[in-house]
Amino acid sequence: MEVIICPTPDDVAETAAGIVAEEARLRAGGIVLGVATGSSPLGLYARLAARIDAGELDLSQARAFALDEYVGLEPGHPQSYHEVIRTTVTEPLRLDPSRVRVPDGNAPDLAAEAAAYERAIRDAGGIDVQILGVGSNGHIGFNEPTSSLASRTRIKTLTRRTREDNARFFEAGKVPVHCLTQGLGTIAEARRTLLVAQGEHKAEAVAQLAEGPVSARWPGTVLQYHPHCQVVVDEAAASRLELADYYRQVQEDKPLA
Ligand code: GLP
Repeated sequence: MEVIICPTPDDVAETAAGIVAEEARLRAGGIVLGVATGSSPLGLYARLAARIDAGELDLSQARAFALDEYVGLEPGHPQSYHEVIRTTVTEPLRLDPSRVRVPDGNAPDLAAEAAAYERAIRDAGGIDVQILGVGSNGHIGFNEPTSSLASRTRIKTLTRRTREDNARFFEAGKVPVHCLTQGLGTIAEARRTLLVAQGEHKAEAVAQLAEGPVSARWPGTVLQYHPHCQVVVDEAAASRLELADYYRQVQEDKPLA
């Protein structure tokens, strides 16, 4: 795992966007992206959009798979991840909407939808770069604590803490209870994983995922097994890392590629 500590949230966005843009160039535009919702990657998406607007990057041939979706929100609900992905990813990055997929949280058979989602990722050749945030309780996607480290896309019940964290987006008492989420085993199969986190409220989750024992108690720790994982954080999110000085030294003394 490579931990990159940046001075500010803007630097996190710029650094992470650089990583995605470089990979997209290597894959001649046909990249398969895994895209997260939440506030953490918004700066990264904005920086990618700026590169696209400037003619420096073209993602029109890219494909994208969202990590998760709430169950039971009416279609078009502004907080459904279908809508959030459309407004924060598909449109600003000028992706072809027919190449962007979000799990259907209104499917009549949610288990069948989960299996179909897994097949679609496989049929696309797998995810090249999976963009991730982390919940304050350590979840990635919506893989709440005690999720199997080998789990696949499936239905999950949200924890009270996650529902409280996300309550600001919903009318009182109307935070969904269930979701469909890629599993930790699904996420682990992406060729690259790129997690971004900002702010003091993420410091414990970041410290656990980088330095804690691998445990379903902190689902993000599954990334310690990933052969190509980068974690890009600001100073506040890095504030509980015991080995922060070492991560800084690694960046300063980076061997030439
Ligand atoms: C959400 C999403 C995750 C996201 C996390 C953190 O509920 N399901 O994919 O990474 O929780 O959200 P935020 O980036 O807003 O802090």
